[in-house]
Amino acid sequence: MDLTHRPRRLRQDRVRGLVSETSLEPADLIAPVFVDATTDERRPIESMPGHDRVPIDGIVGRVEEVLETGVEAIMLFGIPASKDPEGSRAWADDGVIQEALRRITSETDAYVITDVCLCEYTDHGHCGPLEEELRSEDIVDADGPACEPTMTVDNDATLEALKRIVTSHARAGADMVAPSGMMDGMVEVIREALDGAGFEHVPIMSYAAKYESAFYGPFRDAADGAPSFGNRRHYQMDPANSREAMREVRLDAEQGADVMMVKPALPYLDIISAVRREFDHPVAAYNVSGEYAMLHAAAEKGWLDLEAVGLESLLSIKRAGADLILTYFAEDVAQRL
Ligand code: PBG
Repeated sequence: MDLTHRPRRLRQDRVRGLVSETSLEPADLIAPVFVDATTDERRPIESMPGHDRVPIDGIVGRVEEVLETGVEAIMLFGIPASKDPEGSRAWADDGVIQEALRRITSETDAYVITDVCLCEYTDHGHCGPLEEELRSEDIVDADGPACEPTMTVDNDATLEALKRIVTSHARAGADMVAPSGMMDGMVEVIREALDGAGFEHVPIMSYAAKYESAFYGPFRDAADGAPSFGNRRHYQMDPANSREAMREVRLDAEQGADVMMVKPALPYLDIISAVRREFDHPVAAYNVSGEYAMLHAAAEKGWLDLEAVGLESLLSIKRAGADLILTYFAEDVAQRL
């Protein structure tokens, strides 16, 4: 055959690497780590094989394990000893994250990013204090009140809490803060609070386009942060929307976010790619708990090759445009790179 184009020429073993467009490095990866004030034993998270809730006393050892694989950054999540309607343990100077931060930063070189949210700290599991969204007495017709009052997260009261949380994290040594609650104006108030307390050098990685996703299921077991009623659709984004993601990212850019995150990752590669094209900021993608759990479950049944699909997932997320990836595969993949 007289073919002009034979793309297979460049797929031969000795040349594939030279023409490869995307590469993964341990330096691109951030490992989520769970510190738990309710236990003094390491507890495996059943739906996330290989991940544990670690007591405060074990946190330095856990972070050292991550560093040994070549991953240099962690995202720290906390499970507090007690919860209340306001989530006040989230900004306590002797809180679980604050205590863990002091130990990690004094004993290791890990770059520590903290998840800034209230859902693990409130007794109702929502991402901030609640208010009535609609008062039944406001809407009355002949048959009486048209609807029951609905509770929702009080945006502006939550902003006040976020200011306290980020300054307490920064005082305890956080290298970067990552607000994940999808409150309007969160980046602006966090930037002001950090600057006002002398932490101008602490960057903000905003969970800018965070969807209301069922892929967070295993995480909510892991971090004990499932809402006790309702769902998060009043603050997290509708999976049907992509233009709205651009608006969210633009607002966070205006408010001074340093890194823009899209979450989840695999079902939202189109969003990652659009954010990459439209903005100059580094783009982070969160390969979430459900994306990890489903591959593990299939591999356990012998239906998928776990190492291969883990690596392929991360490569795809990078190819779509992510510069950094938060992933429960971080350690496994880094070890093989
Ligand atoms: C909120 C938070 C969540 C995740 C990260 N930060 C849970 C949620 O929004 O319900 C999910 C991460 C994952 O599923 O891996 N603190």
